[in-house]
This record gives sequence, structure tokens and C-alpha cells, in this order.
Amino acid sequence: MTKRVLVTGGAGFIGSNLVHYLVKERPDWKIVVCDLLTYAGNLENISALLDENKIDFVRCDIADASNVEDLFSNYEFDLVFHLAAESHVDRSILSAAPFMKTNVLGTEHLLSAAKSHAVQRFVHVSTDEVYGSLGETGRFVETTPLDPTSPYAASKAASDLVVQSYHKTHSLDAVITRCTNNYGPYQFPEKFIPLFISNVLEGKPLPLYGDGMQIRNWLHVIDHCRALLLIAEKGIAGEVYNIGGGEASEVPNKEVALKIIHTLSASEDLLQHVTDRLAHDRRYAIDHSKLENELGWSPTVTFDQGLADTISWYQKHAAWWEHIKSGSYREYYEQNYGNR
Ligand SMILES: NC(=O)c1ccc[n+]([C@@H]2O[C@H](COP(=O)([O-])OP(=O)(O)OC[C@H]3O[C@@H](n4cnc5c(N)ncnc54)[C@H](O)[C@@H]3O)[C@@H](O)[C@H]2O)c1
Repeated sequence: MTKRVLVTGGAGFIGSNLVHYLVKERPDWKIVVCDLLTYAGNLENISALLDENKIDFVRCDIADASNVEDLFSNYEFDLVFHLAAESHVDRSILSAAPFMKTNVLGTEHLLSAAKSHAVQRFVHVSTDEVYGSLGETGRFVETTPLDPTSPYAASKAASDLVVQSYHKTHSLDAVITRCTNNYGPYQFPEKFIPLFISNVLEGKPLPLYGDGMQIRNWLHVIDHCRALLLIAEKGIAGEVYNIGGGEASEVPNKEVALKIIHTLSASEDLLQHVTDRLAHDRRYAIDHSKLENELGWSPTVTFDQGLADTISWYQKHAAWWEHIKSGSYREYYEQNYGNR
């Protein structure tokens, strides 16, 4: 059935992958991307779809209520996938205000518009970082108390609570997803995996925070997109769903760095331990058995295969990230890594 679908943040990493996936899987849907095109948003990620008129694009700041109201009045959406966010933890440590504005206030504006325009389902894309940090054992389940560490994680936890309040107070049909760290094509090269791949390709050092033994539970972005579509269509209103890459994809950062170095036949001398960042959670691991048992989802991409494919994508798309790594990116890089 035709649906009018909004993807916020659809010019970013996960959003653009989701848009490509939805166009392929649900060709009869009318998809609109709304994105402010911050430093992290890149229309090149979806330019082929725009050129073929397969999607619409609206430049919109979700932190501006009137922008959001205009958008919802013009299109009357059935379904919203909400991914727009300030998403980089390191930047939230340098300056937290934009995170509160976009991630908390922006989410509220979208919920308010979804309520008044009778949107049938609102999928709020959140993160496992809202649960805080784990010790050596255990996994986050959906009922694990929220205990965010960084300003980024706090802003996402706050937005989750606002979503829940709209469901409980106004009966808005909303679901919350909490995924682990994603990787794959079109990820902005400030994030760990694309930063390290592109630095190796440029022959630059790899700044590894602390001892590099922080563990992340890597999820290939395509598996994330599969989960989001499934939850949009089959998930239960008011529920939270964890999305994780599975036990085998729980890998310490140092091991990821070495895998990248070895795949690209580079020297381990590129690895450079730098002072750890503030608020660096030690370990994340997600129990996604609710999603597996209730909706039949499980990850399909192994970490080794997904990483090899991702490395190959960055090798083939050097023009895409070389362009990004010039200009204002350099200022951020100097500010974040310059004194470590
Ligand atoms: N990348 C991950 O590993 C990961 C893990 C867990 C959860 N998430 C969540 O998934 C979502 C997408 O993450 P991503 O990695 O694709 O992020 P991203 O930074 O690549 O993309 C975010 C997009 O949002 C847009 N945006 C920012 N502020 C906006 C505003 N005020 N109005 C409209 N658009 C705005 C940006 O231009 C960008 O295109 C985020 O909500 C993030 O919190 C990401």
C-alpha cells in the first residue's frame, strides 16, 4: 500500500542508507527526506535518487517549530522515521548546546506535528548509549535503566523520554529503537571506523583513545535498516526494541584498528595511542532477543565480512571522503586530536 513517509536526517549516514533501502524494498512509498544539511549531512549520499525523482528533499531545521509545521502541512505523512540528530559524542564534549536543541527540542517539534497531523506511526531511532556503560559481563535489555554518560547520550535519553510521554499522554503511535554502533558506506569520517580507514589510505596516524580496549557491538548499517523497516511495519506501539550486531561482533577498538591496518597491508606503526576522551564508556553490548523472538530479526552481516566490504567501499569512494576531510573538518580534527 502506498504510504507517505518522512525520513528525518536522510542525508546523514544511517538515514541515507535507510532511504536507499526503502526505495528498493517499498518502491510504491512516497519518501520525503528532511535534513538541515549540517556538516554531517551530504546530499551526495542520495543524489542518484533525487536525480531520478524517486524521493523528495526538503531542507528543514527540526529545531525550528515553524519549519517542522510547514513540512507536515505540505505532505501529511503516514509514517515518520526520525534519525536527524547531532550524533558525534566527541563534539558533544566540546559543545553540548546543539545536541540539546536538535536532539531534544527537535524531537519534540516532530512529535507535536505528528500528533496534530495524525501520523500513523513514529519510529524514533535512539542508541544503546542511553543505557550507559557495562562491565566485563552482561548485556543491555530494553528494561535496563537509562544511565547516559556523555552529553550526546543524555540528549538521546531525554528524547526517548519525550517520545514515551507523547505515547502515554496523547496515545501517539510511537516505537523507540536502540541500536549499537553502526558501520558501513556513507559514514562521516569523524567516526571511528571511517576515520581509521581513511587515515590508513592517506598514510596518516590512527589516534586510538586510551588503551583501545573499549568494546563496541558493531552493527552493519544494512542490518539496522532491515530492523527499522520491520519495526515500522510490525512493532508494537509504545515498545522499545534493541538492535545489536550479535555476540560475535563485540570487538575492542584496538582489534578493529588492527583489522583495518592488516586488510590494507599497512604498518602497525600507524597506530598511535592518544589520551582517552572524557566520558568514554568501556563496553556496550546489546541483547536483541526481544526483536529476534517477537519479530524474527537477527543480524545477517558478520563483522569480518562487513568490515572488509566497508574498507573496500571507502577505497572505491575516495573522492567522497577526501572532499569531506578538507575545509572545516580539519579545524574539528585539530581541536579534538591536536593536544592529545
Ligand atoms: N551512527 C551510529 O553508530 C548510531 C548508533 C546509534 C544511534 N544512532 C542514531 O541514529 C541517527 C542517525 O545517526 P547517523 O550516524 O546517521 O548520524 P549523522 O550525523 O550521519 O546524520 C545526522 C543527520 O541529521 C541531520 N541534522 C542534524 N541536525 C539537524 C536539524 N536540526 N534538523 C534537521 N536535520 C538535522 C544532519 O544534517 C545529518 O544529515 C541519530 O539519531 C543517532 O543518534 C547512530
